[in-house]
Amino acid sequence: MSDFAVELRNVVKTFQTPEGGSVNAVDHVDMGIKHGEFFSMLGSSGCGKTTSLRMVAGFEWPTDGEVYIEDQPQGHRPPFQRPVNTVFQNYALFQHMTVAQNVAFGLEMDKTPANEIKRRVDEALAMVKLGGMGKRAPRQLSGGQQQRIALARALVKRPKVLLLDEPLGALDLKLRKEMQMELKTLQREVGITFIFVTHDQEEALTMSDRIAVMSHGKVLQVGAPVEIYERPNCKFVADFIGDTNFLEGQIRAINENRITVFVPKLNNEIIGMGDGKFKTGDQVVISIRPEKIRLSEQSTLNQNCIEVKISNSAYIGSDTRLEVNANGVKLKVWEQNHISTLDPRAYHQSDQQAWVTLFPENALVLPAE
Ligand SMILES: Nc1ncnc2c1ncn2[C@@H]1O[C@H](COP(=O)(O)OP(=O)(O)OP(=O)(O)O)[C@@H](O)[C@H]1O
Ligand SMILES: [Mg+2]
Repeated sequence: MSDFAVELRNVVKTFQTPEGGSVNAVDHVDMGIKHGEFFSMLGSSGCGKTTSLRMVAGFEWPTDGEVYIEDQPQGHRPPFQRPVNTVFQNYALFQHMTVAQNVAFGLEMDKTPANEIKRRVDEALAMVKLGGMGKRAPRQLSGGQQQRIALARALVKRPKVLLLDEPLGALDLKLRKEMQMELKTLQREVGITFIFVTHDQEEALTMSDRIAVMSHGKVLQVGAPVEIYERPNCKFVADFIGDTNFLEGQIRAINENRITVFVPKLNNEIIGMGDGKFKTGDQVVISIRPEKIRLSEQSTLNQNCIEVKISNSAYIGSDTRLEVNANGVKLKVWEQNHISTLDPRAYHQSDQQAWVTLFPENALVLPAE
């Protein structure tokens, strides 16, 4: 048996559009989701997340390639023959049935004995903290509680894999944050593999063991949250996840993973870090996150130290978010406010002259594309 609960191998999904063209909603995707993993697909609207999930569920079939579940190729198997269950964004609860009847529905379809249904429904409702609410109608519950019924209804069938398509999308921010924690805890407790779709990067970072970042039907990078944020493999991922600064330039020299880049707009060489795929003369971008830039009154005498003028300063409590101008190039710099004081001198202000240091280990060299 492989490590994977679900695997997409070279999967393509082409749709014919009413305009007479065709679109690859999913474009040669390879992706392996490990047993017991909380795996997220993250990307902006239209990048192919729902289509990928629907092919795992069996609501769509690949135009090319194959979906494997527990090492079995799924071919044209219908959804009810797959050991997976889906929680949809709009919950799709039956309004004329009670909470308990909603949860029991799938088991009744399977002709599960009545006493076992009762036991499993109670168990599933307890799991999502709705024990004792079985007799209510869905409309007598809050949005977050309705969301939990949808979860209970999927969990009661004991799927090997649970597919969740933006399940928290309809909730307000506070409830959404609470449910993120609960869902993550629940996943750990039940040990089921979760494939979670979201376009919210913070949600993906907080909840996932691993994330697949998608764009235009392709998977650009798969990795743990820390890898995706600290070692993005391309400009798109660096830009999409979190905030960053880009400096365009050309490689002048390579010394193992230390790469010297000439940045014309700064008329300066900046040393960054990169992997082995580059050669001298390549067009590249340096990506450096705002919280990783050091701002000081004096030069640090480091090669990557540049004189700047602070053009904007916004105190936001935990941080001060600054914009600095280096020879016409604007950089975002975030300073953590780790001293509690009212003294304005403790905070950098607009119009001050200062120096920024871009430590090479924080300056990632990426292909310009
Ligand atoms: N049945 C269909 N017929 C034609 N095109 C489709 C169909 N379903 C999806 N598409 C197209 O495929 C692409 C991917 O759609 P998909 O629903 O997978 O995106 P998504 O990543 O889930 O987006 P969102 O975040 O908005 O839900 C889009 O360009 C969409 O217009
Ligand atoms: Mg979608």
